[in-house]
Amino acid sequence: MAIKKVAVLGCGLMGSGIAQVSAVAGYDVTVLETDQKFLDKGFAGIEKSLGKLSEKPEKTGITPEIAKEARSRLKGSLNKQDLADCDLIIEAIIENPEIKKKTFGELDAIVKKDAIFATNTSSISVTELAAATKRPDRFIGLHFFNPVPLMKLVEVVRTIATNNQVFEEAVEFGNKVGKVPVRTSDKTGFIVNRLLVPYLLDAIRAYEEGVGSITDIDNAMKLGCGYPMGPLTLLDFVGLDTTYYITHVMFDEFRERRFASPALLRRMVLAGWYGQKTGKGFYDWSDPKNPKPNDAALRGLE
Ligand code: 3HC
Repeated sequence: MAIKKVAVLGCGLMGSGIAQVSAVAGYDVTVLETDQKFLDKGFAGIEKSLGKLSEKPEKTGITPEIAKEARSRLKGSLNKQDLADCDLIIEAIIENPEIKKKTFGELDAIVKKDAIFATNTSSISVTELAAATKRPDRFIGLHFFNPVPLMKLVEVVRTIATNNQVFEEAVEFGNKVGKVPVRTSDKTGFIVNRLLVPYLLDAIRAYEEGVGSITDIDNAMKLGCGYPMGPLTLLDFVGLDTTYYITHVMFDEFRERRFASPALLRRMVLAGWYGQKTGKGFYDWSDPKNPKPNDAALRGLE
């Protein structure tokens, strides 16, 4: 089956990014949301990103014409029926298994039988979501990375029930949207979070244990290992709430300390310090261009 029409469920940070790269790659894209205000916010983000990328076509490959065509292929919708003739449905809604299962269950009855269902989940079992539909053989994981328009990776996740051809079509889709697809299976965390999450949690433990200050831990990994962001900055970027949620799912599966949430992470989440999105995490983001280390984080343990 040739994928032509793509639907994206959710127009948040990930959903809008996935919709953007799909439209740039030439697919007709419908983004489904529950409220017009979420569509407006997501489309404003796409507009800003396309504007930025098309300023440097020699670097990004996105000329103002390509950006214009992509815009014309994107539409928003509040009605599930509009997805009936889509070939690939990519879900990027809230990380809540029950809400995801309910959404896929409703779409199962609306969307054509041979359409492929994909989830962008970073930690929920793809098998569990697939089993809630009547098409577990046509269900895969497509895990993108934030910011989607810039990050070159997509993890393509198969379950024990995934049809081989569907898996290969998903890999091909990953290539077409300009990403490097890596093949992986439905083990919690896939490849990236299996390796990244223990590293991020160790950075929090190092800070808790007084190994270094926030700035020094981040500088150490940026300058010593060439990472684009230090681990504590990356935690603020990913979201401490999101990371906390992932640690629970991973610890539940593996029962290993390396996946367990440090006390400080739990306290920061309880305090509502989720990182960039709430203005405070390991850094104070009042001035987003010049974040200041939030050393009050450590005082929470005294
Ligand atoms: N669209 C278009 N352009 C964008 C953009 C977007 N969404 N976001 C940033 N840019 C542009 C900036 O405007 C800037 O343009 P300029 O050079 O013309 O000023 C350029 O990209 C570079 O951005 P910055 O100067 O702000 O900063 P960096 O050079 O550090 O690049 C970064 C930003 C690409 C985000 C880089 O810091 C990075 O790679 N960080 C690591 C990100 C990462 O690890 N992501 C994965 C998180 S894990 C995950 O998502 C999985 C989940 O399951 C947890």
